[in-house]
Amino acid sequence: MSSQVLSTKVECRVPLDGRRRQMFIDGKWVDSLTGAWIESRNPATGQLLGFVPSGGKEDIDLAVAAARRALSGPWGRLKPFDRQKILLRIAELFEMHWEEISACDTQDMGLPITRTRANRQRVIGMLQYYAGVATNISGTTIPNSLPGDVMSMTVKEPVGVVGAIIPWNAPTAASIWKIGPALATGCTVVLKPSEEAPLTPLLIADIMNEAGVPPGVVNVVTGYGSSAGAALAGHPAVNKLVFTGSTQTGQEIIRASATGVKRVSLELGGKSPMIIFADADLDKAVPIAAMAVYANSGQICIAGSRLFVEDSIRTEFLERLVAFSSQLKVGNGMDEAVQIGPVISSRQLDKISGYINSGVDQGASLLIGGSLLVEGAYAEGNFVAPTVFANVTDDMTIAREEIFGPVISALGFTDAGEVIRRANDTPYGLAAGVFTRDIKRAHQLGNALQAGSIFINGYHLLDPAVPFGGYKSSGYGREGGLEQIEGYLNTKSIWIDNN
Ligand code: NAI
Ligand code: MG
Repeated sequence: MSSQVLSTKVECRVPLDGRRRQMFIDGKWVDSLTGAWIESRNPATGQLLGFVPSGGKEDIDLAVAAARRALSGPWGRLKPFDRQKILLRIAELFEMHWEEISACDTQDMGLPITRTRANRQRVIGMLQYYAGVATNISGTTIPNSLPGDVMSMTVKEPVGVVGAIIPWNAPTAASIWKIGPALATGCTVVLKPSEEAPLTPLLIADIMNEAGVPPGVVNVVTGYGSSAGAALAGHPAVNKLVFTGSTQTGQEIIRASATGVKRVSLELGGKSPMIIFADADLDKAVPIAAMAVYANSGQICIAGSRLFVEDSIRTEFLERLVAFSSQLKVGNGMDEAVQIGPVISSRQLDKISGYINSGVDQGASLLIGGSLLVEGAYAEGNFVAPTVFANVTDDMTIAREEIFGPVISALGFTDAGEVIRRANDTPYGLAAGVFTRDIKRAHQLGNALQAGSIFINGYHLLDPAVPFGGYKSSGYGREGGLEQIEGYLNTKSIWIDNN
């Protein structure tokens, strides 16, 4: 890691100087009533970035109360155009502060700066999309078949207080993907960031405040899942929960949602298949299949971590995959030459190395990687070498469980019917990738694969207008698009009996 190319000058309103930060409730920066703190470290260097309040039930109570008050205050009376203006103002401020936001994410959770920067259009595009939606929400007048003159129509109302709980792997996008639709529809939000990467969500709260979001509309309570998270999920005055994270915690959220009968949408884990047919454009498929797993060091819900390669090209494909993997630069993501950053924590590192050991023990062949990087500049961070296993079988742990690390499990196959059956043989259903030049087969797989997003001859294709979410144990509800907006609205039917 040469220090000359480290990005310079990062001015951050959430200065990463090791001091205590506060959280944002009812338009004010406050400490937690628990008096406890959580430290936040840079996973690439171990550097202490700061402390955030370890929020508890009492803090969640205050934030939810503020969010409820805000619903019946001036925010609740704003017109669609006013909410649109606020969203556009937030988008503008994101443009202005994008470097600061990117650098904050990179230092707090490790994704290389070139990648956090590159998310600019996606995130700002989300804000602009939701701004457009704000003025396009409407009910309908529906003809009914009752006798005489009876009118029926629907109106859409904000669902109310939204409890949003997010993981560490994409703090900025996850925050906006949950707060944006709330602002568009007139809801209010209590956001609980991950204890592993809480700093950018605080910066986002500051920017929203500057943009004129009224007090209580967006609250950010930092804290652990077992305390702040559980209190938010189980709070009777929260109307809707939006969650991204592990399937196991998603199941906790469903249980907690029974209190108050909350709406729930869940974006959970995955073990997505990436299927390469022999007729694929390999120049395109090799790097995309590799980065479908290595991006964000594998800590991405849609990681295409089960790589099915048609037998006739398997040897060639894996050789090229190994060559591609061997030239990737792993290191501190503030170095602009780095493509793969650290993983979030030593706990995650242990989990990944456990999976790598299980692959070896169960008889898969390690083609490259398989080790933690611990020497020299890697010593203080959580680094794993990009790893490819070949000769993986469907029943191996590395072919079944979400690893959330830069580990590719490669399998062979002989025909479309077989690979469809095997690809679908998983409890998950978040995404699937297919590379083929045969349009008929592309359609066949697009229809047959059981997942919320099917990427054909590409991967990681996301847009704020297009719904994203899971089948099966990968969750329910959608983010993106008008389907997501529906989840933030109540439909009320109004009848007028004119007889
Ligand atoms: P997690 O699902 O436990 O954490 C996600 C969020 O939920 C965090 O904000 C956490 O504080 C909160 N949380 C935890 N327990 C909660 C509870 N009982 N009630 C309410 N909120 C709660 O995931 P974690 O522990 O960070 O990572 C563990 C594994 O989960 C990863 O190794 C990965 O396999 C998987 N994961 C998958 C993600 C995906 O996008 N598919 C995202 C994050 C984790
Ligand atoms: Mg956890």
